[in-house]
Amino acid sequence: MERLQKIISQAGIASRRAAEKLIADGRVMVDGKVVTEPGTKADWQASKILVDGKPVEAPEKHVYYLLNKPKGYISTVHDEHERRTVMQLLSVIRERIYPVGRLDYDTEGLLLFTNDGDLMNALLHPKNEIFKTYEAEVTGSISEAELLRLEQGVGLSDGMTAAAGVRILQTGKDSSRLQITIHEGRNRQVRRMLEAVGHETISLERVAFAGLDLSGVSRGDYRPLTRGEVRSLQALAGK
Ligand code: URA
Repeated sequence: MERLQKIISQAGIASRRAAEKLIADGRVMVDGKVVTEPGTKADWQASKILVDGKPVEAPEKHVYYLLNKPKGYISTVHDEHERRTVMQLLSVIRERIYPVGRLDYDTEGLLLFTNDGDLMNALLHPKNEIFKTYEAEVTGSISEAELLRLEQGVGLSDGMTAAAGVRILQTGKDSSRLQITIHEGRNRQVRRMLEAVGHETISLERVAFAGLDLSGVSRGDYRPLTRGEVRSLQALAGK
């Protein structure tokens, strides 16, 4: 048994406070009777609860998955140009899940999926400064000055980027590999940062997001998150 206002708010109909008002205003019925008593308890499964005559559905169970996205998939639920979408890689999941942010069509790597809208919004909110790490292969060799600029912030059309963690993994005359950690999530941010310092991106992979990495998940595969991983995401997102 749960308090009615909790049931109504968990069903996403109204906040706890607003649900109390719905009850006080006589807009809530349990098993055919109007209930106005605050704090009345009911059973999700066994009772028929109506708000303004509409049934209150039990909330969907929250699910969380980590996908290792291959190139050549768009990170939206539908694509108007009929390109392959990341949803096709998780087509056996019954719940209505959404990607947590986006990776470009040609970017590979870690992408989370969930039906927990609260956590998703919190992970994407700039104030929570969630860290993402990328490995990029770029044209040409990277100089110390360029490395410093990437670290300190570069000017893009939508403003300066915040400080980033940058590590050169390998540098050569024709191409170099580097690792970049950022907490912003602007459109094509890493590619644009690299372009701003004179390098074209040959390939880009997200290797970590919010403390999670791709260990044990091959390209195109996915796995559910553990309870501990979900809890640590919630902590990072201030939930
Ligand atoms: N930065 C990019 O440029 N592309 C991505 O897909 C993610 C981050």
